[in-house]
Amino acid sequence: MKLFLDCLVILLLYPVLNDGFNINQDPFERDICNLQEELAKLFKLNKFKLMNTDKLKKILDQFNVTSPEDRSFIADKTLCGTCMLLVNQIQQKKVTVTYLARAVCKIYIALATLTVSDFCEDVIRIHLPTLEYILNNSKILDAELACSIILQNQQCYYSKPALKWRLKVPSKSLKKIPRVNRNEDRKQLKILHLTDFHITPDYEVGGVENCGYPLCCKRDVGNPVFGANAGLWGDYNCDVPPWLFGRTMLHINQTHKDIDLVYFTGDIIDHTIWKASINDNSNLIYITFKTLFETFPNKPVLSAIGNHETAPLNVFPPSEDGIEKAGLSAQWLYTLLSKLWSSWLSKESLKTVEKQGYYSYVVNKKFRIIALNNNICCNLNWWLLYNTTYLNEQLHFLSTELEKAEKNEQFVHIITHIPVGNKECIEPWEVSYNNLIKRFSHIIKGQFYGHTHTDELKIFYDEKHIPINVGYNGASLTPYQKYNPNYKIITVDPYSYDVLDVDTYYFNLTEANKHPNRTPRWLKLYSMKNAYGLNNLSPKDINKAATSVSTNNASFNQYWRFYVRDGDASLKDGCDEKCKNEVICKIFTTVSLNSEKAGCT
Ligand SMILES: *[C@@H]1O[C@H](CO)[C@@H](O)[C@H](O)[C@H]1NC(C)=O
Ligand SMILES: *[C@@H]1O[C@H](CO)[C@@H](O)[C@H](O)[C@H]1NC(C)=O
Ligand SMILES: *[C@@H]1O[C@H](CO)[C@@H](O)[C@H](O)[C@H]1NC(C)=O
Ligand SMILES: *[C@@H]1O[C@H](CO)[C@@H](O)[C@H](O)[C@H]1NC(C)=O
Ligand SMILES: *[C@@H]1O[C@H](CO)[C@@H](O)[C@H](O)[C@H]1NC(C)=O
Ligand SMILES: *[C@@H]1O[C@H](CO)[C@@H](O)[C@H](O)[C@H]1NC(C)=O
Repeated sequence: MKLFLDCLVILLLYPVLNDGFNINQDPFERDICNLQEELAKLFKLNKFKLMNTDKLKKILDQFNVTSPEDRSFIADKTLCGTCMLLVNQIQQKKVTVTYLARAVCKIYIALATLTVSDFCEDVIRIHLPTLEYILNNSKILDAELACSIILQNQQCYYSKPALKWRLKVPSKSLKKIPRVNRNEDRKQLKILHLTDFHITPDYEVGGVENCGYPLCCKRDVGNPVFGANAGLWGDYNCDVPPWLFGRTMLHINQTHKDIDLVYFTGDIIDHTIWKASINDNSNLIYITFKTLFETFPNKPVLSAIGNHETAPLNVFPPSEDGIEKAGLSAQWLYTLLSKLWSSWLSKESLKTVEKQGYYSYVVNKKFRIIALNNNICCNLNWWLLYNTTYLNEQLHFLSTELEKAEKNEQFVHIITHIPVGNKECIEPWEVSYNNLIKRFSHIIKGQFYGHTHTDELKIFYDEKHIPINVGYNGASLTPYQKYNPNYKIITVDPYSYDVLDVDTYYFNLTEANKHPNRTPRWLKLYSMKNAYGLNNLSPKDINKAATSVSTNNASFNQYWRFYVRDGDASLKDGCDEKCKNEVICKIFTTVSLNSEKAGCT
């Protein structure tokens, strides 16, 4: 066993010990690349360095994961087998969490080609209490469950009882479309969609931009020898300087005077994943909502919680006395937000914010907004290894609110941080959520997300593969990684609450940094309707646009330019066939483990 672990660590260290190599067409070699790719995906690295295959092959041979004759090596299965072995070893106390975590952190560093490793101990330290609590107390944890959840991979999926549950969807009504009275005189609704600020309070102009840590341009992070070039307005490798956030709010306030509502789909805290402090997070969350309140006085700012808001990130436990007593609860966040959001939300809504960060907001008698905290469904929320059914409470709330809306002839927008179908949310949540979208697609007029930092669409289909609903990603204010900052203005029909158009505004970060003395020049990147030549943005029309994106090169290239908002660093990297396939697949996949069904491999 010790040998295996050592080899795993060696294997995972190869990228820093060896130069990368060219992918050749040998299927075995491709599988080895895929194995590394699976790991990189798990770490959400969009760029990573491949290892030397010869040495890797020798190591894999030792474990009989491949025999030269049948060459039956399958990357996904190897990853799965390794995962299960390690979880078993931990449960039998043959290895410690710390030992494994160090190995995993080394893989991360290797694949991401980071040059420092001292943050690993901090990452481990801040996650250890949660992981230990779960190991000591979980009644459902075993290797099959853990690997099914963490890997979100068809090759490693076991239909454990904890993953089998589905929300019971209310029986079909007549699906009557609410009456609308177009005689009333109303103006089109303008909704500002903001997302993923990721503000770095200690941003350092002239700081090290390629610092060897997961996030750069921070005071005292990285060696200036590597290029101290962090620009005033941000960097493609860094998060948002506080003054960029401030200037952006000012710019929007002065430029878009007709905004009626604001959606903010989460993530205030930056990517300093090796630091976690409830105090620091609370301060920044407070300042951010105060700024939003002052920028948009008298306008409802409706927000969804991001996965970075907790300390450490991603952990959203069920509310239980034991967890509270162990000091691992996220209640501080829900309590803080229910205070900060009291400027906009009713007492009734604040009650559910206080419970788990979700709520429903009635704009007028025809229009309801439902905000979810779906970070709880994410594979890196360790608490899923302790309990999966606490997710039911919020899905049940969504279902009840949708029923209420249907009964009252209201239309609905849903706002939430994490899009479904990207191999993050666990299956019971994704399937239940999809079933609710199908059941209530006649009243749901749009879903709005963030989290990925990419500008992307999601299309939901019914059983007959008819497009029935659309999700819009707001992309991000942060340029992390390699994107230009953006915000969106959504135009909505004031009677049917259909999305009529989405305008995306951005600025060229390279250019902005060349002119540090002036405010970035915000420009309109595109109007969804014009860019795709659509009459409207109905699910059917969006599906036409998406079909064109998936079949026509010019159309795909445009989609991809928008996806990165013309970020110079991304344009320089380009998007190869693999990247293209992934970008397209995400449009059509809304249940992660069904990506084949969506025509993706
Ligand atoms: C690998 O397979 C060979 C031949 O089938 C066997 O002799 C050897 O013990 C196996 N090694 C391991 C580590 O299982
Ligand atoms: C878990 O259990 C071990 C003993 O088996 C104990 O030392 C440790 O403190 C416990 N940790 C937590 C967080 O409960
Ligand atoms: C911009 O700020 C001013 C002053 O606070 C306020 O009167 C105005 O309504 C704001 N504009 C928007 C679009 O909220
Ligand atoms: C999970 O949490 C739910 C309520 O939040 C509770 O009813 C259930 O018993 C818990 N399951 C386990 C395995 O602890
Ligand atoms: C952004 O600005 C830089 C500097 O002015 C320029 O070189 C670059 O081409 C611009 N990027 C795009 C995509 O237009
Ligand atoms: C589309 O682009 C790919 C690679 O970029 C190329 O192989 C293919 O020939 C192009 N197809 C058309 C119709 O231009």
